[in-house]
Amino acid sequence: MLIDTHCHIHESDYSLPLDDVLQRAHSSGVNKMICVGTSEESSQRAVEFSQQHDELYAAVGVHPHDTEDGYASICELAQQGIVAIGEIGLDYFYTHSPREVQIAALESQIQTAIDNNVPIIFHVREAFDDFWPIFDNFRGLRGVLHSFTDTQENADKAFSRGLFIGVNGISTFTKDADQQKMYATIPLEKMLLETDAPFLTPAPYRGTINEPAYVSEVAKHHASIRGISMDEVAAITTTNATALFNL
Ligand code: NI
Repeated sequence: MLIDTHCHIHESDYSLPLDDVLQRAHSSGVNKMICVGTSEESSQRAVEFSQQHDELYAAVGVHPHDTEDGYASICELAQQGIVAIGEIGLDYFYTHSPREVQIAALESQIQTAIDNNVPIIFHVREAFDDFWPIFDNFRGLRGVLHSFTDTQENADKAFSRGLFIGVNGISTFTKDADQQKMYATIPLEKMLLETDAPFLTPAPYRGTINEPAYVSEVAKHHASIRGISMDEVAAITTTNATALFNL
């Protein structure tokens, strides 16, 4: 059994029919999926989807890109049976919202996670120098650095703080030797599998719309580079996800 710990199949612009997507997920052994919010509206939809489908769980939060449009409703949505706050963080690669707005939104939503005793799904891009001091200002945070593509140094900082690292299709197709090495040395006990569907479709399905069924390709890749069975990767990462998100 596999869990897709990060997808956006609930978004209004996700173009594949949900029933087909869930059917293919089940056929690939993907029995649980976390629909991750990126805005207030998207978080509301994630909650609704999770209430309509047993295999879907919701995370609510406002992505750093969208923080300028507000995040006040996340406090209330956090009380609707959700499994995490996310995706929240800092993105200085695009800086679609000003840095000071991103930082205020991150701190506020971390506090919401603490208040509701749930883990956090972090999105951090080109912003770790600002991120770590903010993270370290809080105590007892649990969570995952989703779609991690950064350095070994920041991976090690994550592990030393008890964070998981979320790996997706990027790990199957990156040509960056440092990234490949970093992915290959993530301890399985600290790894979560995700698709980030509809984005980042793994090899060999590049060029198609991503969907949770393809998390099996991410698992297959990590089994292959470690020389172990896919069942072992599936078992350990599923245990990790089940424990972190209390699924
Ligand atoms: Ni995402």
